Amino acid sequence: MTRMISIHSSRGGTGKSLIASNLAAILASRGLNVALLDFDFRAPSLVTIFQAEKGSHRYMNDYIDGKAKLGEVMVDLSERLGCSGTLRVGFANVELDAMREIARKDRKWQARALKKVLRLKEELSDLMDANLILIDTSPGIQYSSVNAVVGSDLSMIVATMDILDLEGSQRMYRDLYKPFEKKALIVINKAMPHDIVGNSKNALIEEVRARFSQPPLAIIPCFCDILLAQRASLFIRDKPGHPFTWTLKEIALRIEKIG
Ligand SMILES: Nc1ncnc2c1ncn2[C@@H]1O[C@H](COP(=O)(O)OP(=O)(O)OP(=O)(O)O)[C@@H](O)[C@H]1O
Ligand SMILES: [Mg+2]
Repeated sequence: MTRMISIHSSRGGTGKSLIASNLAAILASRGLNVALLDFDFRAPSLVTIFQAEKGSHRYMNDYIDGKAKLGEVMVDLSERLGCSGTLRVGFANVELDAMREIARKDRKWQARALKKVLRLKEELSDLMDANLILIDTSPGIQYSSVNAVVGSDLSMIVATMDILDLEGSQRMYRDLYKPFEKKALIVINKAMPHDIVGNSKNALIEEVRARFSQPPLAIIPCFCDILLAQRASLFIRDKPGHPFTWTLKEIALRIEKIG
């Protein structure tokens, strides 16, 4: 069975791309066949994170636009990353013209795009026997994110403890996820050191429970060395002993179990 999970957020910069790319690599290294898709067509990240070669493949933009097949889009990184399973990535086009073009599309086009999203599971299952599809979305309720959420079995909302972000995530959960009866798990990222000890940690968990009727799936601290690191790196490969890597491994195990 193929499962599709969207990594979503209300505001930008909460850590979706970092979490999606590292989770995909962990799960592929645990033997799963993972497809990681960049649906952030206005600000793609995965090309940079995985240092994708230009010109050797087509883009998710082309697939969604009906101009390319998934076989031409999905780049196999399993060997490069030494995964025992498979990791194939569908990149979004970072060229300015491509970003502009997709931003100009009308509602009719968006409805057709949703049909393509709804076929992803079947097509990726045929192409690479995918167990798991992870979608790195753009923040908020742009059509590409809504399509990804609607087409997914489950979403992970990555929020920070910034009050604007928490309130935005809560509204999004209420106004997008609930009406579509979509399940979402909450990951708190960039938690401050004083937020994750003793009573403060309990207060944080209670705040998430009050806003989303569930405790957080995970709380990931803010690490200065991640902020300072070059984005063009896969953290879990470069820093296997880092607490961020341990936390993501725990999230990966929980995702496998939910399976
Ligand atoms: N736990 C963390 N500790 C420190 N820095 C982090 C943490 N998580 C993410 N970051 C950093 O925050 C920045 C934003 O992360 P990322 O690009 O993954 O967010 P995003 O939600 O995908 O953003 P966007 O909405 O723009 O696509 C990056 O520099 C990333 O390395
Ligand atoms: Mg991103």
